[in-house]
Amino acid sequence: MKRYEALAHEISQSILDGVLLPGDRLPSVRQASSSREVSPSTVFQAYYLLEAQGLIVARERSGYYVAASARQLPPEPETMSLPDQDSVQPDTSERVFEVLETTMTRDVVPLGSAFPSPLLFPMKRLARMMSVSVQNLDPWSSVDDLTPGNARLRRQIALRYLIDGLHIHTDDIVVTNGALEALNLCLMAVTRPGDAVLVESPTFYAALQSIERNGLRAIEVPTHPREGIDLAAMERALERYQPAACWLMTNFQNPLGSLMSDEKKQALVKLLARYQVPLIEDDVYGELYFGDRRPTPAKAFDTEGLVMHCSSFSKCLAPGYRVGWTAPGRFARAVARHKLTTTLTTSAPVQGALALYLEKGGYDRHLRQLRQALAAQQVVFMEAVARHFPQGTRVTRPKGGYFLWLELPDGVDALRVHKHALSQGISVAPGPIFSAQPAFGNCLRLNYGHLWDARVEAALATLGRIVAGEMTRQTMQP
Ligand SMILES: Cc1ncc(COP(=O)(O)O)c(C=O)c1O
Repeated sequence: MKRYEALAHEISQSILDGVLLPGDRLPSVRQASSSREVSPSTVFQAYYLLEAQGLIVARERSGYYVAASARQLPPEPETMSLPDQDSVQPDTSERVFEVLETTMTRDVVPLGSAFPSPLLFPMKRLARMMSVSVQNLDPWSSVDDLTPGNARLRRQIALRYLIDGLHIHTDDIVVTNGALEALNLCLMAVTRPGDAVLVESPTFYAALQSIERNGLRAIEVPTHPREGIDLAAMERALERYQPAACWLMTNFQNPLGSLMSDEKKQALVKLLARYQVPLIEDDVYGELYFGDRRPTPAKAFDTEGLVMHCSSFSKCLAPGYRVGWTAPGRFARAVARHKLTTTLTTSAPVQGALALYLEKGGYDRHLRQLRQALAAQQVVFMEAVARHFPQGTRVTRPKGGYFLWLELPDGVDALRVHKHALSQGISVAPGPIFSAQPAFGNCLRLNYGHLWDARVEAALATLGRIVAGEMTRQTMQP
């Protein structure tokens, strides 16, 4: 983030948290510039940005004030998600497919979608790289780029790890068809049917589907909406179930948006190393941070090669190109073998195009714009939830990514809300698809990665009315 963006974000957070209230006067540009040790133009830019977001207003010859409409937001969900549970063989795939099918059409307002707006990505520049890649394709690339993948692309990925302080050798990276394939291959490499796998609760539904497909058992570990998985509960589960793997997200977890601190990541890696349990780390949203640096993956604390780091370009650069990767530590050979016997390799021209894009530069500029757009969208969405949803609704405040997790007032049935919303042309992701247990029945995941316009505002207003209607129905039941 640029300085003025960081300043604007800090102030917007204070407004959203209720530290700054509607009508409060912001420090003058001169005061803010001297107290924060930034130039007056940085403060001006930050204030202009906040004004454009509708969070502050300028009063002539008097300065800037928190806007009357910038109300305090609904409270965050505070509690850990679930008590300790038994292991289960997930049976959620059908339900997930039913819900997801409904989001795969352009006609609905895609609040339930897992993807941000395609308009946020440099599609034209990528298309040029694709064209150059195809025209200059070395006929031998069909051999050279076989798994573990295009060496230039793997080198660029290794360089990005290096920027973030991780020393990952090019040879230890396996290119895959998106992060989902990376995650699946890692799971296959370290488990056998019947094994137990630790996951968060709630968790990314594809983890449950993958566990189901491989004949494994899921152990859902309670997870805090801000701080991530509960390590004490995880230790109890390690003792009790002797799991073969742990699959989780340390940065901007889907669906909660939780972010583990570095200390917690270090403790997590140490704990799993004590039990010699491999960690499959899903880090697809790590680049979409709103703070001043990329949050470290748990992989950074791994000294035994037990962490299998998985990510992709799908959420931050090239949706639809289906290029991801894994740095699976001591399991690199096993993962590459599984890839060779399943999908063999990843498309050579597409690997070449992404390698070229990364070599030419511009990725970081694109990421800065994307993060700024998402951070601004989050504020506007939260404001709209505050305006339109009934009292008793709780909302997370993620520090990155593009999902909000809503806890609706007790008794509201998220699956009924999903059905009703769909009949009005709006998709949402209901809580029950994120667990193999009968849990999160009153929760929703909302995607704020689509550009704000009157249609989205109207959709949130409708959704708020549907939730309020569900509350009334609930109280009228005998
Ligand atoms: C948490 C999480 N992991 C992995 C994926 C899959 O990523 P990719 O599209 O790169 O396969 C997704 C996509 O929705 C996701 O939300």
